[in-house]
Amino acid sequence: MMESGSSYRPLAGKTILFGVTGGISAYKAADHARGLIAMGARLIPILTENATRFVTPLTFSAITGEKARTDLFDPDGAETIPHITLARMAELFVCMPATANFLAKAASGMADDLLTTITLATTAKRVVFPAMNPAMYENPVTQENIRRLREQGAVVIEPEGGPTACGETGKGRLPGWETVQEVILAAVTPPDLKGFTVTVSAGPTREPLDPIRFLSNRSSGLMGYAIARIARRRGARVRLVSGPTSLPCPPGVDLFPVETAADMALAMGRLAKDSDVVIMAAAVADYTPAACAGQKLKRGAVPINIDLVPAPDILAGLVAARPPGQFIVGFCAETGDVVPKAMEKFRKKEVDLLVANDVSEAGAGFEVETNRVHIISGTDDVIGLPLLHKEEVAERIWDLIINRMSLSTD
Ligand SMILES: Cc1cc2nc3c(=O)[nH]c(=O)nc-3n(C[C@H](O)[C@H](O)[C@H](O)COP(=O)(O)O)c2cc1C
Repeated sequence: MMESGSSYRPLAGKTILFGVTGGISAYKAADHARGLIAMGARLIPILTENATRFVTPLTFSAITGEKARTDLFDPDGAETIPHITLARMAELFVCMPATANFLAKAASGMADDLLTTITLATTAKRVVFPAMNPAMYENPVTQENIRRLREQGAVVIEPEGGPTACGETGKGRLPGWETVQEVILAAVTPPDLKGFTVTVSAGPTREPLDPIRFLSNRSSGLMGYAIARIARRRGARVRLVSGPTSLPCPPGVDLFPVETAADMALAMGRLAKDSDVVIMAAAVADYTPAACAGQKLKRGAVPINIDLVPAPDILAGLVAARPPGQFIVGFCAETGDVVPKAMEKFRKKEVDLLVANDVSEAGAGFEVETNRVHIISGTDDVIGLPLLHKEEVAERIWDLIINRMSLSTD
């Protein structure tokens, strides 16, 4: 998940009308608003009168740095016709939380307060996050209102399941930040990977020595997860084959957890068959123990040797079995002399793109949020990117893939 202190601001320059209605999770919306601001968005908060019983306009003014609007007939407002001026200001309209009452009013075109009037007047994309008691949510009237809103072009996000504030368990909770940020980012991102199926590998592998020990590496999975996340955000169907990491699966991505290089080779081979793009971002073991001891290896006084045999070369296997038209991207982690080493690998591996990084460099490679990579797409074609957030690196990689794929189909 993106840190709020990150310099990566994918919502910079975007204005969002941020509606808040009178539901118990209005306090969570304040936190989500902060997250969106940290990503660079300008938020204009609009609260219903009932929302102000749960959170004050001051909270949202302080968080967003904008006057929180509550009144359709604001005598002190700068705008003559506030609902029209505001409706035209943004590229996105978000309502969070959306009460059952708001859904009913919005679905039927009622406009009896500032928020519902703006909902009707805006031509911006509308994203609505219902949150309420599970029985209210499952009520056929609410479901019918959601169906109508979707039919009218709004994106209505399913609430999360689990215990709700009213003590019941069921669907009705406002989604957490991980989902919220992806929904909002997807709403403002052109879906240029729609129709593509993508398989990405990420993280380390674990090669067992005995029932409790393994050989592994420092890969955190951040780079591969960022590639999967951005592909999904841009509309692709995404499968993520991941070695053990502590990262949550990006929303909307299908996760295939694996442990060893052999497991990863099997999963990648199977999923690559119907993929348009395959990206091997995992840090796969080069060697694996020749045998895994059946019992825990005991401490002893003399040194022991462990025989290692080469682990499967997954990238080579994928290239050998590549269906026509499939685009394959490899990664290589080097320590020093990155470009010449990567160029040699590019020639040998017959991939379409090779992304290389120096994992000994500060701020790049394993276990950090940023990376500095070189992208090789031909023997004379090397692009060196500056130090960037891994999501930004992923954006650049996808831009290049799309560019190369469209060139090859021209
Ligand atoms: C303590 C409390 C919590 C409430 N929480 C919700 C809620 O989470 N979702 C919902 O749809 N309504 C909830 N309601 C009911 C709404 O506040 C009510 O329908 C109100 O008319 C909504 O007004 P608005 O849509 O104009 O903001 C709650 C009411 C109370 C008293």
